[in-house]
Amino acid sequence: MSPERPDGPRIASYEADPSQVGRVLLLYSGGLDTSVMLKWIQELYGAEIVTLTVDLGQPGEDWDVVTGKADQLGAAETVIVDAREQFAREHVLPAIKANALYGGGYPLFTALGRPLIAKLAVEVAREHGCDTIAHGCTGKGNDQVRIEGMIATLDPELKVIAPVRDWRMGREEEIAYAREHGIPLKGGTEVSPYSIDDNLWGRSSEGRTIEDLSQPPPDDVFQLVTPPERAEAEPQLLRVGFEQGCPVSLDGEQLGLVELIERAAEIGARHGVGIVDQIEDRIVGLKVRDLYEAPAAAIIMSAHRELEKLVSTIHQNNFKGALEGHWAYLCYAGLWLEPLRADLDAYMDSVNRFVSGEVTVKLYRGSVTPVARTSPYALYDQSLASFGESGGDFSQHASPGFIELFTLQSRLANRIRRAAPGKDGGAGQ
Ligand code: ARG
Repeated sequence: MSPERPDGPRIASYEADPSQVGRVLLLYSGGLDTSVMLKWIQELYGAEIVTLTVDLGQPGEDWDVVTGKADQLGAAETVIVDAREQFAREHVLPAIKANALYGGGYPLFTALGRPLIAKLAVEVAREHGCDTIAHGCTGKGNDQVRIEGMIATLDPELKVIAPVRDWRMGREEEIAYAREHGIPLKGGTEVSPYSIDDNLWGRSSEGRTIEDLSQPPPDDVFQLVTPPERAEAEPQLLRVGFEQGCPVSLDGEQLGLVELIERAAEIGARHGVGIVDQIEDRIVGLKVRDLYEAPAAAIIMSAHRELEKLVSTIHQNNFKGALEGHWAYLCYAGLWLEPLRADLDAYMDSVNRFVSGEVTVKLYRGSVTPVARTSPYALYDQSLASFGESGGDFSQHASPGFIELFTLQSRLANRIRRAAPGKDGGAGQ
């Protein structure tokens, strides 16, 4: 492989002019793409590289090994940031309050992580005198939109290079390049066939055999969640406690947010919960199939939604769903700093002031079912709800009057339409 500098036209103001690249901040995961990039940028641009590795709670990573590898591949400096707490508080928690799911099933973990990674990249680039940020996103995905959009929003001076979008190497060629340049491959020669991304809140797999929509998920995809048919035979009840919309305890034990999410993920994974097989509309127009494993999100969001239903009014519950859809879309689309998101957060926080209490979920072979709930703010009076009772704020004798007035417009409309000439009446418009 003899690398060439990208010669395509530069369209956006933030795209780096190859002759102007000085010192590069590389977003480094230790995987194949970013390791090849680390050599490729040095070779092509003659630039000094500072690597930034962000810990968002990706399970099973040894960060010393990752930064050691960056050192070995010639990085001038290696920076690692433990951003788990910030990720949980400032990114995952707002998503919990917004019950955020994209496309009906994706709890947005990658989309939630990217703006934080980009923000840290801007900060570290400034601190370390870098003029350019390099990332490993392809030209077909959402992540390039999220990362570049965030960088350009935060600092219009910084330039960006996206080698994977420019180089004409396929996976096999990248592996060959790695071999030629002495880049150690994670797991020896066994590079995962899928494109994986993960953090505290979940794990996604895309690509290769997953792209064959006519086939069920390949067996080797699920590395986090035990497939439901092999999950524990006994159901488990888990009590999730919330204060103002924030999960604070599991089975009565108070836990910090990061630890709570990790614990929920581990329990959920054993019970096969949180697997999603979804066709997704990417921001860039493509449809793609994603396989998600998000056990913590499945448990926490199902409990949260349940508690919210109990303490909010019918009007709040009906209204919030539409706003949740907007929130999820803005997050998915990488518009993290769009002012509308802050507006929506203000509403989510307001509703969540009373989302305190406990929800018990039953975990059993792939399902999460709320089975019990308590809250000091429940809009619920057991004596009124029980059959045959009447009194206090609720009189069954008032019901017929209510029904008559409540149905007034529908009754009138039907009567008038039935009488209209040439119309067959009934429920027609
Ligand atoms: N489809 C998801 C999203 O757009 C997951 C992307 C995972 N990223 C990756 N590089 N594999 O957020």
